[in-house]
Amino acid sequence: MKKKDILVAPSILSADFANLERDIKKIEHAGADWVHVDVMDGKFVPNLTIGAPVVKSLRKVSKLVYDVHLMIHNPEDFIDAFIKAGSDIITLHYESDCKNLNDTLEYIKKAGIKAGLSIKPKTPVSVIAEYLDLIDLILIMTVEPGFGGQKFMTSCVPKITESFELIKQHNKNIDIEVDGGINTETAKIVVNAGANVLVAGSYVYNATNIKEAIDSLKF
Ligand code: DX5
Ligand code: ZN
Repeated sequence: MKKKDILVAPSILSADFANLERDIKKIEHAGADWVHVDVMDGKFVPNLTIGAPVVKSLRKVSKLVYDVHLMIHNPEDFIDAFIKAGSDIITLHYESDCKNLNDTLEYIKKAGIKAGLSIKPKTPVSVIAEYLDLIDLILIMTVEPGFGGQKFMTSCVPKITESFELIKQHNKNIDIEVDGGINTETAKIVVNAGANVLVAGSYVYNATNIKEAIDSLKF
């Protein structure tokens, strides 16, 4: 399997919510590949963020790939809205109480966009195996989802290697995205383990020089 280029997906969870347009343009000009949008419902995770109407408005301000990470229960009820809002990738959580994960992932793919499946730190990679035909991306959480600025969990690294092996074994073209506590040091660890998409919130948005921060993740 050919090694993929590293893609950087800054998370706007760490942006200034009063200046989202400005902050998305900032990462776009600084060389980001995707913009990572963290959607939280206050139930699946103990935090609330934004929904499809905000994604719809933000879609107009940038040509970046809109990478929507749904940390919500009943994701199937909101998929249409996020598709219509212009998402390029929609990722659901395996642990959400989605009524039918197969149908929901298939629905996303039929809309002509990419589908992702995410697992929390305590969920094993083995649960993903049966969905490999339906997904374009595996999102490995390296913090408990809910908040930016948490410490990277080294214990999750073997799950990246396992995902890489699983994809290789089945000869699939699936991205491995890692989310939580990514900085220049942890980026090297996860890329060596097989990740090719790096989500970074606080590391990018708290940097004095955003371009340098993004460049430091692509080595
Ligand atoms: C956490 C979110 C992440 C978060 C990452 O639940 O899914 O995308 O913004 O933030 P950092 O990079 O600061 O850990
Ligand atoms: Zn995220």
